[in-house]
Amino acid sequence: MKDLAGKHIVLGLTGGIACYKSAELCRLMIKAGATVQVVMTAAAEHFMTAVSMQALSQRPVALSQWDAREANNMAHINLSRAADACLIAPCSADFIAKLAQGQSDDLLSLMCLARPVDQVPLLLAPAMNREMWAHPATQRNLAQVAADGAVVLGVGVGEQACGETGDGRMLEPHELLDDLIAFFQPKVLAGQRVLITAGPTYEAIDPVRGITNLSSGKMGFAIARAAREAGADVTLVAGPVSLPTPRGVQRIDVRSASNMLSAVTLHAPEARVFIATAAVADWRPDVASEQKIKKDGSGQTPALRFVENPDILATLAQSARARSGDLYCVGFAAESHDLLANAQAKRLRKGVPLLVGNIGPATFGQDDNALLLVEEQGTEEFARDSKLALARRLIASIADRIRD
Ligand code: C5P
Repeated sequence: MKDLAGKHIVLGLTGGIACYKSAELCRLMIKAGATVQVVMTAAAEHFMTAVSMQALSQRPVALSQWDAREANNMAHINLSRAADACLIAPCSADFIAKLAQGQSDDLLSLMCLARPVDQVPLLLAPAMNREMWAHPATQRNLAQVAADGAVVLGVGVGEQACGETGDGRMLEPHELLDDLIAFFQPKVLAGQRVLITAGPTYEAIDPVRGITNLSSGKMGFAIARAAREAGADVTLVAGPVSLPTPRGVQRIDVRSASNMLSAVTLHAPEARVFIATAAVADWRPDVASEQKIKKDGSGQTPALRFVENPDILATLAQSARARSGDLYCVGFAAESHDLLANAQAKRLRKGVPLLVGNIGPATFGQDDNALLLVEEQGTEEFARDSKLALARRLIASIADRIRD
């Protein structure tokens, strides 16, 4: 299932060099399953041709409210009534000012004013020079359009077309796509804080070697994204993985199990939900050599001794019980066989209300998975699907449980 399947989006372009990014954004939205109707202002046409946007969207671009091809000659009404959302990207300072005032002397601003405010959300991706962005007039207008119900998606920071550096760049197309997808997800965890561990841990033997495992972190990162999409404030404590941080998620990179426990302990007191997906190493070398252990040619192997790592999940679950259970803890079990029996036993051993089982070798590094939810009351199977789709279902289940 594509993330924007069935959604009809009006993509409005206003005047700005960031129009070049809107071509890619249009492509990404269509790849995600949306139908896209492009509307361009006259200023936007200085930066991007309507021909390019028509080719990418597969639809004629709407340019004028006087286009006689509209049977009722009411393009502003027809466009806004058909849309599931209007996304203005790039949204210029001038266009924000027009929205704030309710001006409507071109098709795009007219359409924004004519849209049914409660039914057709308006999302804005501002793009402008940093001084224009910081100007009190722009900030005042933004506050006004937000108060009038528009969703302001924020701006990027960095080098600008003018050569200056600062706030005001339009977000990248993939960021806008993720924000749009997130916008349509139900906000079942609005206002809740969720703490997640993900990835493997790395236990040093010496400065250049260590013990780790094949966990990719993909399931935990997908859950972090799904929790954020559901409106939660998400902290993701990640072992060494090279995955991109999901939009809006606060990420803390750690290496060893001990580092992971410290980070988690610090953030647990504010959290409502803790989801442990990390494949924490069971043991670590009792001492990590400060210098590289050398091979001396004698054929002797180093005598490594191990100590057990702290069980992060069990530790948190125990302290949550001690604090009368205000932290809902969820564990994962990667098994190679007897998933149900192993997951049930692990749930009891860890002392958590919900344990999610999966077959480790069938999911490590993959983009899909199948889950078995095990609770005291019974079990539920989530059939094989993408990790993100499963993560969204899991988040919905967790939201149900903490609401009860
Ligand atoms: O005991 P096992 O490693 O199979 O348990 C898996 C579950 O416990 C996962 O949720 C994992 O993140 C968590 N865990 C932990 N700290 C450990 C070991 C496992 O949080 N030291």
